[in-house]
Amino acid sequence: MKTQIIKIESENDIDKIGLAAEFLKNNELVAIPTETVYGLAANALSGDAVEKIFQAKGRPQDNPLIVHISSEEELAPLVSRENEKMARLAKAFWPGPLTVVLPKSENVPTVVSAGLNTVAVRMPAHPVARAIIKSAGVPLAAPSANLSGSPSPTSAAHVINDLNGKIAAIVDSGCCSVGVESTVITLCEKEPRLLRPGGISPLQLEKVLGKIEIDPVVFSKLKTDEVPVSPGTKYKHYAPNAELTLVKGSISAFAKFVNENAAEKDLALCFDGEQKALAVKAVEYGRENEPEEQAKNLFAALRELDELGAEKVFVRCPQPDGIGLAVYNRLLRAAAFRVIEL
Ligand code: TXA
Ligand code: MG
Repeated sequence: MKTQIIKIESENDIDKIGLAAEFLKNNELVAIPTETVYGLAANALSGDAVEKIFQAKGRPQDNPLIVHISSEEELAPLVSRENEKMARLAKAFWPGPLTVVLPKSENVPTVVSAGLNTVAVRMPAHPVARAIIKSAGVPLAAPSANLSGSPSPTSAAHVINDLNGKIAAIVDSGCCSVGVESTVITLCEKEPRLLRPGGISPLQLEKVLGKIEIDPVVFSKLKTDEVPVSPGTKYKHYAPNAELTLVKGSISAFAKFVNENAAEKDLALCFDGEQKALAVKAVEYGRENEPEEQAKNLFAALRELDELGAEKVFVRCPQPDGIGLAVYNRLLRAAAFRVIEL
């Protein structure tokens, strides 16, 4: 399949927005920009269209998709009942990097929810994303537009690398501003529960909802016989080809550890300005106390490590505060929970 690359500078580029929407109306796949990461979109109301997403990504069939809407009125047809907490979350965080899991309606095909009786919904902040949804006239199911298991794409180049030739079109609107995927919270348990940290922090959520629960999968590996609330958490995720180890400790402790233990061809993933303390080559992913910056650079940095042919990588551990919790969570998974405390 020849993949058309559609460069869209703004939501006012209505001809090109219309072109992308046309593919979606015809149940074809289009990669679209969002403020978090690029998404691989299909008409969420067509089981056949959504099926193509699983094929193109090589995604396990039991991992449900997020449905993207462009305005709040589009929520009601997707869910089985109104929810007062949802209304508060929408008011505070939509459009934006928050996904909410709710009881689903019959309009949502089983393949979208992977057989669950819930649906995850998000209204992205990216104006081009919302313009494409509006123009398509249907909600869009969209996972991150990477091959299953790889780091999520934060630029059109990442999407081209993974999916060129496999989908109808890729919209190129530059780099994503947030850089890690949306926060996922479910309102289908007894109390609101955070399933995946992301662009909206637990503290921000608690200001609106009161106390929330944090699902154990945010910090730890699923036990082998456990059934997760969020099926995505049971798969290897965000991982480059290299073997990552997360190292907790100060830069001086880190540098000493790496310089004593790393083989010559091993690499480091560290904060800006730290390369000079290290005897191995390093990729820097933002300043130490700037979690927003780390989030924005993280996935490109993981891809860069692969391009450098890294086999083993020692990683400076971020502070798990604010959006830093999402950075920490992604690195923990990319490292398959290998952590060293110095
Ligand atoms: O920022 C994002 O959320 C991006 C952009 C494209 O919007 N999308 C994204 O999708 O990260 P994906 O498919 O890579 O991750 C969706 C996560 C998975 O962990 C999945 O298991 C979970 O959301 N999820 C989806 N539907 C769910 C449901 N009904 N119940 C629980 N978890 C759900
Ligand atoms: Mg993903």
